[in-house]
Amino acid sequence: MKLENLDTPALFIDIDTVENNLTEMQRRIDHLGLTLRPHTKAHKIPQLARKQIDFGAKGICTSKLGEAEIMLEGGIEDILITTPIAGDNKVQRLIKLHTQYPKAKLYQVIDHPLHVESIAKLAKQSQVEVNLLIEVESGQQRCGVVVGQDLLALIEKIVDTQGVNYSGIQAYSGHLQLIKGFEERQKQARTAVTDLFDYIETELKPRNLTPQIISGGGTGTYQAYQGLHYTEIQAGSYLFMDASYTKIGDEQNQDANRQFVPALKVLSTVISHPTPNRAVIDAGMKSLSIDLGMPTVDTRQDITYQCGGDEHGILHIDSHQTLNIGQTLTLTPSHCDTTLNNFDYLHVVKNGQVVDTWKISGRGRSD
Ligand SMILES: Cc1ncc(COP(=O)(O)O)c(C=O)c1O
Repeated sequence: MKLENLDTPALFIDIDTVENNLTEMQRRIDHLGLTLRPHTKAHKIPQLARKQIDFGAKGICTSKLGEAEIMLEGGIEDILITTPIAGDNKVQRLIKLHTQYPKAKLYQVIDHPLHVESIAKLAKQSQVEVNLLIEVESGQQRCGVVVGQDLLALIEKIVDTQGVNYSGIQAYSGHLQLIKGFEERQKQARTAVTDLFDYIETELKPRNLTPQIISGGGTGTYQAYQGLHYTEIQAGSYLFMDASYTKIGDEQNQDANRQFVPALKVLSTVISHPTPNRAVIDAGMKSLSIDLGMPTVDTRQDITYQCGGDEHGILHIDSHQTLNIGQTLTLTPSHCDTTLNNFDYLHVVKNGQVVDTWKISGRGRSD
């Protein structure tokens, strides 16, 4: 089927562009002497996770247990869950994954002694060992234990507790990913983890507590970590690239990031054209997320998108080139993660033809 014949709104990827992005990131990571453990929260699809591993990634990250469950069902068996879990339901599910997939390498992020106690209690009962990574504060002020005495106490607690392993540290500075200007972003990313690396050298190493794994970094900051003993880069958005990421600048351009090419798109239909300068499409907030700004209309710089509510997108046309009712347009989302989570299926397009359709199995799995 031709792309234009899909019913709309429809979410699709250009698979050649995705594969070029995967190749490019792997080449860059190899060149920096780092290792890639891509975050799959942007796509939530086991087939794409498999592709990332086939292209050289060591494993994947998921944000939530629910996403990890669908990745394991899809055959992916090296997973870091990057968000702490709390409550009996969650801990039971984590332990169940360990008993259900005994050969899988699973890592859970925590940042408090209570996490250690609750996970260790059930792990001991089920006779499994849970690998833990400690999330540290690295500027975002979200989760993460502050580097210093609290971090040391947490590491020592894990080391002294049966049923859990001290596997390493997660330091992800999410607040820096979209800072404009390459040099400034890299500088801030390194500054945010200076305390951590000093602490590892001066306090952890002498006690034989050097973390085996140090995991973090995103599409905007991965280059900052060369030579810093990060063992894994968690970048995720690079495979899709959204309109927000294309504006942050790269090593050659202050205003544009051309390292990777936008591959995730929404196909939408013009449903109304009330005035020559205003048309309406069938993709509103339930198709195109607006948490990071507005999507852009491909090949039409004269058109600006305005959210018209859940189901409508209003297009302002700053030229005499009117549209036709019934015509389709392709839009680049401003934020790939939250746009993808609006759809059940992702169409795979090659040379303008729909060659496959994947279920977004992790959609809505924020549990
Ligand atoms: C913990 C963590 N690591 C990695 C990423 C991936 O970052 P990006 O999509 O900016 O590449 C995210 C994204 O939100 C994240 O929350």
